[in-house]
Amino acid sequence: MRTDMPQTFYLKDYQNPPFTVDQIHLDFDIFDGKTIVTATTAYKKNHDGDLPLILNGEHLDLISVKIDGALLTKDQDYQLDDKILTLPCPAQDSFRLEIVTEINPEKNTRLDGLYQSGGTYCTQCEAQGFRCITYFQDRPDVMTYFTVRITADEKTCPVLLSNGNLTHTGKAADGRHYTVWEDPIAKPCYLFALVAGDLVHIADTFKTMSGKNVDLRICVREGDQDQCHFAMKALKDSMKWDEEKYGREYDLDLFNIVAVSDFNMGAMENKSLNIFNTALVLAQPETATDRDFERVEAVIAHEYFHNWTGNRITCRDWFQLSLKEGLTVFRDQCFSGDMNSHAVQRIDDVDLLRRMQFPEDSGPLAHPVRPDNYIEINNFYTVTVYEKGSEVIRMQHTLLGDETFRKATDLYFERHDEQAVTCEDFVKCMEDASGEDLSQFFLWYTQAGTPALNAVTNYDAGTKTFSITLRQSLADTPGQTNKKPMHIPVRFGLIGPDGQDLIDETILHLKQAEQTFTFDNIDEKPVPSILRGFSAPVKLSTDLSNDDLRFLMVNDTDGFNRWESGQIYALRVLNEAIDASEKDQDFDLPQDFIDSYGSLLAQAFDTDCDKALLTRALSLPDITVIGQHRSNVNPQAIDNVRREIITELVEKHGDALRKIYQDNRSAGAFINSFEARSKRALQNFVLGLLGTAKHENAVSWAKTQYDAANNMTDRLAALSALCQTDSSERSEALAHYYDTFKTHQLAMDKWFNVQASAGRDQIMDDLALLITHDDFTYTTPNRVRSVFSAFGMLNPAKFHDESGAGYDFLTDAIIKLNGINPQIASRLVTPLRDWKRYSPDRQEKMRACLERIAETPNLSDNVFEIVSKSLKA
Ligand code: BES
Ligand code: ZN
Repeated sequence: MRTDMPQTFYLKDYQNPPFTVDQIHLDFDIFDGKTIVTATTAYKKNHDGDLPLILNGEHLDLISVKIDGALLTKDQDYQLDDKILTLPCPAQDSFRLEIVTEINPEKNTRLDGLYQSGGTYCTQCEAQGFRCITYFQDRPDVMTYFTVRITADEKTCPVLLSNGNLTHTGKAADGRHYTVWEDPIAKPCYLFALVAGDLVHIADTFKTMSGKNVDLRICVREGDQDQCHFAMKALKDSMKWDEEKYGREYDLDLFNIVAVSDFNMGAMENKSLNIFNTALVLAQPETATDRDFERVEAVIAHEYFHNWTGNRITCRDWFQLSLKEGLTVFRDQCFSGDMNSHAVQRIDDVDLLRRMQFPEDSGPLAHPVRPDNYIEINNFYTVTVYEKGSEVIRMQHTLLGDETFRKATDLYFERHDEQAVTCEDFVKCMEDASGEDLSQFFLWYTQAGTPALNAVTNYDAGTKTFSITLRQSLADTPGQTNKKPMHIPVRFGLIGPDGQDLIDETILHLKQAEQTFTFDNIDEKPVPSILRGFSAPVKLSTDLSNDDLRFLMVNDTDGFNRWESGQIYALRVLNEAIDASEKDQDFDLPQDFIDSYGSLLAQAFDTDCDKALLTRALSLPDITVIGQHRSNVNPQAIDNVRREIITELVEKHGDALRKIYQDNRSAGAFINSFEARSKRALQNFVLGLLGTAKHENAVSWAKTQYDAANNMTDRLAALSALCQTDSSERSEALAHYYDTFKTHQLAMDKWFNVQASAGRDQIMDDLALLITHDDFTYTTPNRVRSVFSAFGMLNPAKFHDESGAGYDFLTDAIIKLNGINPQIASRLVTPLRDWKRYSPDRQEKMRACLERIAETPNLSDNVFEIVSKSLKA
C-alpha cells in the first residue's frame, strides 16, 4: 500500500486565481529527443495581500526563470519541487515572467502534455497536461491570449499547427522552419494545442450564417485522406446544426482537425485545432462499421459544439466539468437524433446510461454530476459527469420546453461569453429566462445516486378516476447520507383499451417524497405510460402487469416506452428463469412470451417497419443488464439461462428468423443511409441470435456472409459469430482478415477486439496469444482497449469465470500500464470496481486483485484513487 497519501482537492476550497495573465507567448524548439519551451507570460496581481505565485509543473526540466529580464536563482528567488514552482509575490503589480523548460515528447508514454504519436508531435492538455509543457497556473479560470511559435525540422515536420490564425512562417538554420500562430480569443491553457509532423489534409469551406467563409481541414497521415470525407461532412452538418438550433456561429476563419493514432480519449476540442483519435475520424465502409460511422458523426459534432459550450464559455474549476461536458453531450445527442432517429437515439443513450452510469451511481465511486472532491481529475471524466450530466440538462429542457430553453441558452451565451463559470451560473440562466424556481432541481447536480421511483396506480370505475402515487427515495452513497427529495419530471400518458391516448401527454412534477396525481373523467380502465422518453434518470418500478406491458409494447405512442415495456417484460421472464435455475427447479418459457416475440418478428415483414427500432425491441437484455437486477451475480449462470431461452426462441421461430435473415441480406453496392444501416443491423442481429443458439446454419451462414461481405459491418458481424465457435471457419476467417487488414491499425483493433470478446471456452489461451502477438503493444491505447476493455466489459461470462483467471489477466495489465500510461491503467480497473455485486467466491477473487494492484510499487494517483475507493466501500 502507498504510505504517502495523495492530496485530495475540494470544491469548497475554491479561490480566485491570485494572479491573472494578460497574454502568453510560447516558443517551441523541437529537436529529435528534446524540445525546448520558452514561455513568456505577462502576469498581473489579482489580490491585495502578498500571496506567492504558484505554478504547476510536472515531468519538466527547468532551465531558467527570469522576471522582467532578471535571472532568478533556485532556492534563493524561487522554490521548486516535483509539482510546484513557487515565486514569492513580486513587488510590481504587473510583470513578465520568462520560463525555459526542456521536455522529452519522444519518451512520453502517458500521452498528456506534448508527445509523439507515429512520428507526429501533438498535445493533450485537458485536464492538466499543460503543466507537462511549462510552469503555469494550470486551471481553467486563468484565460488569456496565446501566441505560439513552433520551430522544427522542415523534412520531418513540414506541418506546424497551433490555435487561431497563422501569422508568420519562415526558414530557420539547419534545414529548420517555423510558424507563428495567434489566437484572438482568450482561452484557458487546457485548450492550447500544437501539432508538428508530416501530415496531409483534405480541405473544404463552410459559409456561416452571417456569410463568413471558414476554411476546414482534416489532417492525417499520408494515405488516409480517402477516409476523411465522412468526417468532413459531419463537421459541416454540425456547424449548420449549431447555427439553426442554438444560433451559434463559428468565430474564426480556420477550423483544423488532426487525427492521431495514440490518444487516451476519443477526441479533444482545442480551440480551432481539434485533435482526434483516428478511430473517430477515419471511416470508410471497407474498414469501419455502421456504428463507427455514427460515432464519428457524433464525436465530430461533440467537439465542434464545445466551441461555444466549453471554449467561449468554460468551467471555473474542474468540479464544474459537467457544465461543458453534460451540456455538450446533450447537444450531440440531439444532433444525432436529428441526423438519424430520435427514438433509436434515445434508446441507445438510455441503454448506455443504465449499463454504465447506474452501476457507477450505486457503486464505490458514486459521485454527484458536480463532484465536490477528487484526487485525480482525470478519474472524473465519468459517465456520471457526461451521461447523467446530459440527463440533467435534458430535464431542464423538459421543464422549460423547447422555446424557453432556447431563450435560456441565448441568455447563457450572452451573459457569460468569454467567462469561466459554474453550474449555478448555467441554471440561473434557465431560471431567469423561464421564471421557474430551480433551487430544488439543483440537487441533481449535488446529490449522488440514482433515485428509485415507485409508481402505484388505481382506477376507480365508479368515480371514473385514475390515480397514480409516486414515491421517490435516494440511497446513501459514499460520503452522502439522508438525501433530500428531488424535483423529478415524469412524462406521462394514459392509453385506453382501443390503444388511443385518453389524455394529452403531461408532466407530473414529483417534488416530495410521495405524491398522488389524479385524473378525472376516465371512462374506461386505462394503461398508464409512465416516464415517457425516460424523462428522468431514475430506477422506475411499477405495478404494471405482464398484460399491461405487452399492451404498451404494441400501443404506446412513445417509441421509447414501447421498447422499454418489452425490455421490462423480458427481464421479468429472464429473472424468473435464472431464479429457477439457481434453485435447480424446472422453468417453462411462458407461451405469452414466445408469442409476443413472434409478433415482434412478424413486424419485420411490414413494409413500413422501422428496422432499427425493431432490432432493439428484439434484443433481450444482456448479461450486464440482467446482472444489475440481481445480487450475488453469477454471470456464467446468467449466460447459460439466457442462451437456453434464446435457443428456445430460435427453435420456435426458426422459419421467421431464417426469412428475416434472407430478406435483409446485403446485396449490391454499399449504401450508407439510415434505412440501409437499419437493415444491416437487423440482418446481423439475427445472425448473432442464431450463433448464440448454436443453430445448425449459424456457422455456414456466417462464413458465407464473411466471404461475400463488401463492408466492415457485415464482415465483422460474421467474424464475431464465427469467433464464438471452435470451427475451422473461425480460423480461416481470422487468418483471411489478418491478411487483408494487417496494415490498417483500426481494422486490426477489431481483429483483437472480436477475439477478446468472444465467449469461447479457450478464451484464456486466445488472450495469451493476442498479447504476445507482434501487432500487440501497450503504448497505443486503442490496442490496449481492443484486448483488455473488450474482455473486461464485453465478455462478462468469461471475464467472471469462476477460476478467477480473467481477473488475474486484467490485473496484470493494469499493473503493467500503471507505469506506462496511468490514465489508461485507471480506466481498466472499471470492471473490478463493483466486486461486491458478485457471488461470494468471485468477490473474494476480485478483492484480492484490487489488493494486488494497491500493493504495486509506484502506484499512480490515478490508479490509487480508483482502487482504494473500490476497496474501502
Ligand atoms: N474534452 C473531452 C476530451 C477529454 C476528456 C480530454 C478527458 C481530457 C480528458 C472531449 O470533449 C470529450 O468529451 N471526448 C469524449 C467523446 C465525446 C463524444 C463524449 C471522449 O474523448 O471520449
Ligand atoms: Zn466533451
